[in-house]
Amino acid sequence: MQEVASDIYYVGVNDHLTELFEGLWPIPEGVSYNSYVVKGEKTALIETVKVPFVDEFLKKVEEVTSFNIDYIIMNHIEPDHSSSLLRLLEKVPNAIILCSKKAEGMLNTLYRITENIRVVGEGDTLDLGGRTLTFFMDPLVHWPETMITYDNQEKVLFSCDAFGSYKALDFGLFDDSCDPDIFFEETIRYFSNIVAKYVKYVKKAMEKLEGLDIKIIAPAHGLIWRKDPQRIIDLYIRLSDRMALPGVTVIWGSMYGNTAKVVNHVVDGIKEEGVPVTVLNFSKDHLSYLIKETWKYKGVILGFPVYDGGPFLNASYYLHLIKRKDLRERVVGFFGSSMWSGRALKQAADQVQELDWEVVEPLLEFKGSPSDEILEQAKELGRTVARKTKE
Ligand code: FEO
Repeated sequence: MQEVASDIYYVGVNDHLTELFEGLWPIPEGVSYNSYVVKGEKTALIETVKVPFVDEFLKKVEEVTSFNIDYIIMNHIEPDHSSSLLRLLEKVPNAIILCSKKAEGMLNTLYRITENIRVVGEGDTLDLGGRTLTFFMDPLVHWPETMITYDNQEKVLFSCDAFGSYKALDFGLFDDSCDPDIFFEETIRYFSNIVAKYVKYVKKAMEKLEGLDIKIIAPAHGLIWRKDPQRIIDLYIRLSDRMALPGVTVIWGSMYGNTAKVVNHVVDGIKEEGVPVTVLNFSKDHLSYLIKETWKYKGVILGFPVYDGGPFLNASYYLHLIKRKDLRERVVGFFGSSMWSGRALKQAADQVQELDWEVVEPLLEFKGSPSDEILEQAKELGRTVARKTKE
């Protein structure tokens, strides 16, 4: 039995089976589905887990509650939170489900659950006898029905997808039982992959929580923050400002090795300016990581050849995705080889300018293999982009 705070217990599970979260994003270090039991005179369960893990989940719930559960609080209906609900209801058929109005409709759509539902709204409370829970609507962090739940006694914020991360809880549940630094990169990747589109709403949620006395942040995924909850709050504030640390992400692709010849020269230029640099490959590295590094650093240098008269295909997909994720305000440079058709870099530059990216000139599009002059210009491109990220 893992106690989070007085009469609050963790009943979540680790997922090391799923390869792609949401069918899209690699999770080589797994992910956790965090569920919690809150006990007063009455007992509430906060969310469930993804259904492949339902047996492990129900075993934990039984240990903590003997299936004496009065309320099931569904902050979010996405199936990684809700798909064990039907199996849970077999054990606790009289439990009342509390959720937002929009969630009520989703429970019907997904599971045909229509009974024993109590709809709650902004600021509504639930008296458990000896402790009270308060509900705050948190639309679009990450679906429109999402809400968060606050335990007034122990000052625990059950924040749902907000303040979450990838990475299973193999080394402890809490920031006081493992080194929280090991979650840093996977928090950025989770945010940029899952929540990025909704930064406006993340900011609104953060404003709403200002002034709330929060001692523990208990998200639906990742570490529980009870030693230093301000640390994850501060990181999320930075993430919702699109982070943009000084540093440069170089992402390149090459068909026959000509564009590849430029990469080291760009990297050398960046290093001369003393900022961090990450080098990724359009053909080998998953978009999840390309998006994450682009979210992290202010500078981006993209290298790719022409393909079908436009940018290299994987670069096109990347350019499409940064628009979908509304990834704004970067400093970007371009380089790449062409043969009989040019202007791929110009097409890409036009696309990113729509996102308020500052394009560093010249665009280094060269015919065939790069000349010594191009290699020298590539180094200068690296220096220039790196310098601008420090401004
Ligand atoms: Fe953790 Fe939006 O699902």
